[in-house]
Amino acid sequence: MMSYRLRPATAADAQEMFETQVAAFGEVEGTLRWESARSYCFERTEQHIVFVDESGHVAGLVHIHDHPIQVGSCAVRKADVGHVAIGPELQGQGIGTRMMQETVAWLREEGYHLSRLGGRVSFYSRFGYEPFPRRFVQIKLGPVPIGGGSALPAREAFADPGEWPGQVRPYDESRDLGDRTRLRWEYDHGRSGALVVERECHPGRHPAPPDPTALRWVYEREGEVLGYLHAVEAPLESTESETVFTIAEFAYAPAFPDAAGALMRMLLSRVCDPEPARVTSRLPFDEALSEALQAAEIPHERLEMYQAMASNMILVVNLAATLRAITNELSRRLAGSLVAGWEGALELSLPAERCMLEVTGGEVVVSRTSGPADLRLELTQAQFVKALFGIATLTEMPPARGASLSPTLRGLLDALFPRLPAGSGPWG
Ligand SMILES: CC(C)(COP(=O)(O)OP(=O)(O)OC[C@H]1O[C@@H](n2cnc3c(N)ncnc32)[C@H](O)[C@@H]1OP(=O)(O)O)[C@@H](O)C(=O)NCCC(=O)NCCS
Repeated sequence: MMSYRLRPATAADAQEMFETQVAAFGEVEGTLRWESARSYCFERTEQHIVFVDESGHVAGLVHIHDHPIQVGSCAVRKADVGHVAIGPELQGQGIGTRMMQETVAWLREEGYHLSRLGGRVSFYSRFGYEPFPRRFVQIKLGPVPIGGGSALPAREAFADPGEWPGQVRPYDESRDLGDRTRLRWEYDHGRSGALVVERECHPGRHPAPPDPTALRWVYEREGEVLGYLHAVEAPLESTESETVFTIAEFAYAPAFPDAAGALMRMLLSRVCDPEPARVTSRLPFDEALSEALQAAEIPHERLEMYQAMASNMILVVNLAATLRAITNELSRRLAGSLVAGWEGALELSLPAERCMLEVTGGEVVVSRTSGPADLRLELTQAQFVKALFGIATLTEMPPARGASLSPTLRGLLDALFPRLPAGSGPWG
């Protein structure tokens, strides 16, 4: 029996990785997906790990994207796993199973806290991954109901970008990059579930000139840039009967909801014809944003998808390290709560690991030793990660609902793991 080992990919592996990947996925030469596989294997070789046989040939590969995700003022490190592939002639012999087992062990050694992937539940659940929801905010550009059973075609409903106190104009990198960076920071910094945001602005040497044909604008009011939106057509998602656009980046100054409305209406006026079309995005489920869009007469949907069979999936690679990464944030939350003086211990257990959160003198610390606890909660990984990013509160989860919580313990859990206007995308 051939033995295989896992190691980080090197430039010398790129060609074999590419051949393995396109053969495993059946990609046809010249298609967008084939081109994308090529650019991943050759230009992002170092983001892969490979499973090689005794003579060093690539039997399989895994792409790993390193994503730091915010939990309030702290961050956890997620490995986004993709392009899991075993060469077609080697499939079905248990090699993929071994490669993924070793990948998960490797992620733990590399210091990752969480991992996410999308794929067949029956396969990835073997390695501990659990189905996890995905969130989208989408705008459908089809007939818009106007009441009384009538509807307006999207091209009429959205043709006019509307009158606003400020102006929407094409993004000009040489002038707007600093404002764009600042807005993005103000909008997403500290937003749980969103990627860590850069505060520094890194101007390129050759800033792109404004492009009036691009779906990329800023909103300016009295000389101040208050919003930025960049959308692109998503050719991989578009079908013959529907064109799909994706919002790649969006931010606005929260005190100016007109910025959100004006930019989004500008986008819709540009993409509403021909219909049907759809704008999809990873905008946060945020009450302020939904109010701003509603005020701008933009019907939108918040989709929270719970898939099965093939699904987005999450794995807590290291619970103790995850909790340790967020103790400052937990201490901060506790300090600002009605149970600020609480002292005691809370035990959280996941299928593969259990940890104690101990609170003394207002400080939350993590210890692995089990001892007396004021509350023990046995959670699935999906329940824990929802609470971690504020997708839902811990007290909404069945294990907490099943426990008869005292008002103090309920207050403690709600203080530590509240529901938040979480960002989406990085976790699903
Ligand atoms: C998925 C894949 C990596 C598994 O590797 P492998 O060496 O064939 O896997 P093993 O022999 O260890 O196990 C076979 C299992 O793969 C699973 N599998 C087959 N196709 C799969 C797919 N498209 N996605 C996920 N799992 C798959 C089956 O559930 C099978 O399970 P079983 O053991 O209950 O029969 C490999 O088949 C492959 O490269 N497929 C094509 C590319 C692909 O679909 N990748 C997954 C993207 S999410």
